[in-house]
Amino acid sequence: MEEKTLSVSAIKQGIVIDHIRAGQALKIVRLMGFSEGKKRVTIGLNLKSKSAGLKDIIKVENYTLSEAEAAQIAIFSPLATVNVIENYKVAKKFQVVLPETIAIVLDCPNQRCITNAERTPTFFIVEENNSQIILRCKYCEKLFSRDEMNEKSL
Ligand code: CTP
Ligand code: ZN
Repeated sequence: MEEKTLSVSAIKQGIVIDHIRAGQALKIVRLMGFSEGKKRVTIGLNLKSKSAGLKDIIKVENYTLSEAEAAQIAIFSPLATVNVIENYKVAKKFQVVLPETIAIVLDCPNQRCITNAERTPTFFIVEENNSQIILRCKYCEKLFSRDEMNEKSL
């Protein structure tokens, strides 16, 4: 029998976001606010993926992920899988789905954008172009690659 070990331990209840594009877990943790409050979070970085290559993984105990949160994760990692864990078992498994738009949680990288000048809520249209994910600011109309995007600063 093939040897199988978990590099991060199993959880009893909560969510496991698996197959995260390597290097994106900390950004997703900040974006979702997983590090705020007293949530018990396990993060694995650059773990070996079954399908060759490396992946990140995030486990959040006693937490349910909203559809909007899953959609936000898709911008930074479109191939991530969300597992809902109930009593140590995978009760549900689904693929994140790229949203058409994303509001509020990301800053506009354009310092001259009115959303930065007036510190007003942001809104981006999400576009996929040759498997590149691009965000278009509704206000300044500039285009940004997802790697340029950062979560809203306080
Ligand atoms: N997991 C966990 N705690 C549990 C059960 C599962 O943390 N009680 C984690 C596993 O370590 C894995 C993910 O949840 O990272 C999905 O579990 P499972 O479906 O059993 O793993 P795979 O078959 O490898 O998933 P996939 O086919 O999606 O790669
Ligand atoms: Zn803008």
